[in-house]
This record gives sequence, C-alpha cells and structure tokens, in this order.
Amino acid sequence: MLHTIPDFYSFSSNKMTNINDALNSAEELLTPHTLPHVPQESRVEAVVDQWLHAIATGSQLYCNPDISSPEELKHSVVSLLKEHGLYETREKFYELVFSHLSLKPVQNPDFRFIDLFAGIGGVRLGFQQNGGACVFSSEYDRAAQKTYKDNHGELPFGDITKVNENEIPEHDILLAGFPCQPFSNAGVSARNAVGKQHGFLCDTQGTLFFDVMRVIDAKKPKVVFLENVRNLERHDQGRTFQTIKDTIKKSGYKFHYKVIDSSTVVPQRRIRCYMVAVRNDISANFSFPDFTGDPKPLRTILEKEVDDKFTISDKLWQGHINRTKRNIERGTGFTAHTADLNKPSNTLVARYGKDGKECLIPQKGKNPRLLTPKECSRLQGFPDSFVIPDAKTPAYKQFGNSVVVPVIEKIANVIRKEIL
Ligand SMILES: C[S@@+](CC[C@H](N)C(=O)[O-])C[C@H]1O[C@@H](n2cnc3c(N)ncnc32)[C@H](O)[C@@H]1O
Repeated sequence: MLHTIPDFYSFSSNKMTNINDALNSAEELLTPHTLPHVPQESRVEAVVDQWLHAIATGSQLYCNPDISSPEELKHSVVSLLKEHGLYETREKFYELVFSHLSLKPVQNPDFRFIDLFAGIGGVRLGFQQNGGACVFSSEYDRAAQKTYKDNHGELPFGDITKVNENEIPEHDILLAGFPCQPFSNAGVSARNAVGKQHGFLCDTQGTLFFDVMRVIDAKKPKVVFLENVRNLERHDQGRTFQTIKDTIKKSGYKFHYKVIDSSTVVPQRRIRCYMVAVRNDISANFSFPDFTGDPKPLRTILEKEVDDKFTISDKLWQGHINRTKRNIERGTGFTAHTADLNKPSNTLVARYGKDGKECLIPQKGKNPRLLTPKECSRLQGFPDSFVIPDAKTPAYKQFGNSVVVPVIEKIANVIRKEIL
C-alpha cells in the first residue's frame, strides 16, 4: 500500500527508517508506470531504479519513445512523486535515493555515462569517483546484478541485445568492458585452438561489439571507453582489432589504445587493452596516463586471519604438483607453484575459485590456501567498503571478470580533465 510521508524532509530521529520507507513508497508508486518501458529480458526493477537515479542526478529517464518523450515522461513522473509527498527538491530527492549507499555519485555530476557489460561495476567506480553519474547499466548475469544492486543501488538492465538503443538516456561517455572470452588466450595451447579463438567472426559473444556500436551510432557520446584482454590486439593476426578500430573511426571517432600492466597500482599483474575513442568534433588531445614505478608486493593486501576453509585439499594440492611437473617437462603452460608474496600475483581469472592455480598463498605446516574474496577485491583495487557476495563461487567469478579500479580511475581522470 502507498503511504504519503508529509514530514519526509524534516525527520531526524529515525532518519534511516523514514528514508527506507519513502524509497519503498517511491518504488511502489513508479512500478506500474514503468511497465510499458521495460525491454525484453530486463526486469521492472531496473527501470524503476533508473528513473529514481536519473531524477536524483538530474539526468534523462529511460523511455520508450512510442509512449512519450523523455522530457514529458520526467515531468509527469516528478509531478506524481510530488503529489505523494515524495519529491520536494532534487537535493532532498538525491538524499532519499543515495543516502544508504557508501559508494555513490556526486549530487551535481560533471558528466554522465552508461555502463555496458557492467559486471559488478568496476569500470563504473573509476568514472563515478571522477565526478560522473551512471544513467544506464546493463548486465545479464543474475548474481552479478545482485552485487551491482547491493553496491550501486540500481539493478542493471538485462541482455543488451534486447535493448532498443533509442531508449537509452543521453550520456557523455559510453563504457563497455565487453566480454573477453572470445578473444582470450588463456589455456588456448591446452585446448583445440581452432574454434576457441574465433572472435566475433562466428561467435555470438563476439558480435556484442556490434551491439556497442549500435548504441554509439544512435547516441553519439563524446567519448567511448572500452576494456578487453591483451590478446585482442593480436587476435586473428590483428584482423579483429583492425575491424574494431576501423568501425569506430568510421562512426566518427579518433581511436586511442594502450596495453597497461596494473602491477604498479595494485599487487596484480593484469595486462589489459584499454581503448578510448573521442568524437571527431572534440578538439582535445587525449593521451593515456603513465603507469610506471615498482611492482607492488602481494603481501600488502593479505588478510591477517584466514579461515581454514580456504586451505586447499591434499588431492587438489597433489594435482597442482603433478601438473607443475608435467608442465616443466613439456616447457608449456601455467606452473602451479605458490605465490611469491614480495611480487604481484598472476592475473585473477573468473575460474580462480575452482583450484586457485593462478595464486596460491603458502602457509606454514599446511597446504597452501586460496585468496579470500576480500583479497580478490583488494587485488582489483576495490574499496574495502564494497559489499562482497556471501557465496564464494560467484564472488571469485565476479572479481575475476572485473577490472583494476585504480587503473580505470586514472584514465577517467585524464578524460575528465582533457576532454569533457
Ligand atoms: C568482462 S565482464 C565485464 C566486467 C565489468 N567491467 C566489471 O567491472 O565488473 C563482461 C560481462 O558482460 C556480461 N554480458 C555478456 N553478455 C551480455 C549481454 N548480452 N548483455 C548484458 N551483459 C552481458 C557478462 O555477464 C559479464 O559480467
């Protein structure tokens, strides 16, 4: 049932309860109105959250143009909230929507962005921390969506292939860490390389790049930021990367890229390809920031007390030892030794939780252990306030799929200063 809250802005004693009540009321109030705007494979809650966040940050609403213009829609939604005592000023509405979150955008954002293939919002954080507000996010993995909502207060839209690009709100920057699996080099030598490394020529995952282009061509953001595996550059003898470059340039953008190793900002050797495309009419000169200095030691992010459930079994440890032996004999593949705590770790991958072979922490008198999800979040440079999933498997997968936040933050800082 809806209830109006006339003293909504003046409460102080039981502030959080009142805010939660008011936020629930606003969600309930908007839900039926969002229904004609919800794309296939997305949930109603995603549109409700988008509307609330957009109103709070002074941004455009996600809107089906067959029903209304975004401006008319916003006007009627704000009027409705006012009628129910849920909106007085944007400042107060911002407090209502964001006060329960530790990671939130600034009240008066300098720029707006959209977060495609959002995962748990690592890329988002880097841009948000530079004064940006997210106006649309898309991620179809249910567990990642939950982590995203827990931390950023919004449920992402689902499958991007089902979203009409014309309904996406206006934004200055498009962010997309599009799936890297079709281009990844990991383990290719051990598998049948043919058919596993085929990129977007014949792989549905790979064609997602063209969904990114669909949005770019419709919305023409000032800047496009893409992140992918290092191997993107070399994949299919450079043809995949050439297609990406040519396609973006043809759409009216200057293309810049850099392969960056994150180990000078976090104790993880994660080498990734970062791409920044700047719309041709923008005269600013963009160049990537430098990432130089000493590699960080893994020991700096380790937790002091770690539960025995992270210690690997005898069977698993023996498997690692046998594989190391085989690999040394063949001179190929990963080696399964324990990590050197004075050096950065190897790259965290989505399947890390299966056997931990990329980074095992030595322990006195016991088998080595896996990194904890908290340590994984630190290896990716997430703040300690980030809410981590309770279940280990999705936690490892989500951090393994994510990005090094401080690397993104540094690049976002140059974009904000030099381009926007
Ligand atoms: C490499 S991860 C990106 C992670 C993200 N940059 C982060 O910081 O957490 C790619 C993500 O794209 C999502 N994804 C793949 N196909 C999708 C689709 N068609 N629609 C929406 N999300 C998709 C995957 O579930 C995965 O979480």
